[in-house]
Amino acid sequence: MTDYTLQPIDDKHLSDIVRIEQAVHIAPWSKTQLAPAQGRFDHHYALVNQDDQIIGYFYTRCVAGEAELLNIAVDRPFQGKGVGHQLLTLLKKTLIAAGANTLWLEVRQSNRGARALYQKQGFELISRRAGYYPCPDGTTEDALIMRAQLGNDAD
Ligand SMILES: CC(C)(COP(=O)(O)OP(=O)(O)OC[C@H]1O[C@@H](n2cnc3c(N)ncnc32)[C@H](O)[C@@H]1OP(=O)(O)O)[C@@H](O)C(=O)NCCC(=O)NCCS
Repeated sequence: MTDYTLQPIDDKHLSDIVRIEQAVHIAPWSKTQLAPAQGRFDHHYALVNQDDQIIGYFYTRCVAGEAELLNIAVDRPFQGKGVGHQLLTLLKKTLIAAGANTLWLEVRQSNRGARALYQKQGFELISRRAGYYPCPDGTTEDALIMRAQLGNDAD
């Protein structure tokens, strides 16, 4: 497994993150949403290689032990090679160190890749929000609400 590391997202990362975001997401966040305004409860990190190239990133929020995964992505050429597993494992470690014991997320029902990753990483389906996400063709699709307990041996 290639040895990637996390860097707190700052302005120098932003143009690459915007490019990746637009390439991989159905409904990409805007540059303003991706800007590194580090809030008191937020943990936003870029995953970089030895050349400081951004491979992926995540945005989370953590309040009173409850963390929420707001955004996670791996740049398209690096997808399907185990980077998502590595990024999510590092994310969990970061949140555990920040005092979180539970991690929540929402995922589109059609996002089979992300769902497979989350299932393998110990997330369980908690509930469903019908018609929550708009689709490019004007329809909507359900959001699945998933949760993982942090701090297990696997983390
Ligand atoms: C979801 C995402 C972060 C996964 O990253 P990745 O580097 O491709 O994931 P990995 O290579 O570590 O694969 C993790 C597991 O997911 C599964 N998987 C990945 N892509 C898949 C696909 N397209 N279809 C089905 N399963 C898939 C694999 O089974 C893999 O498990 P394995 O290693 O035991 O075979 C990445 O695909 C991505 O950035 N997608 C676009 C953004 C996105 O959808 N973010 C999530 C929003 S909730």
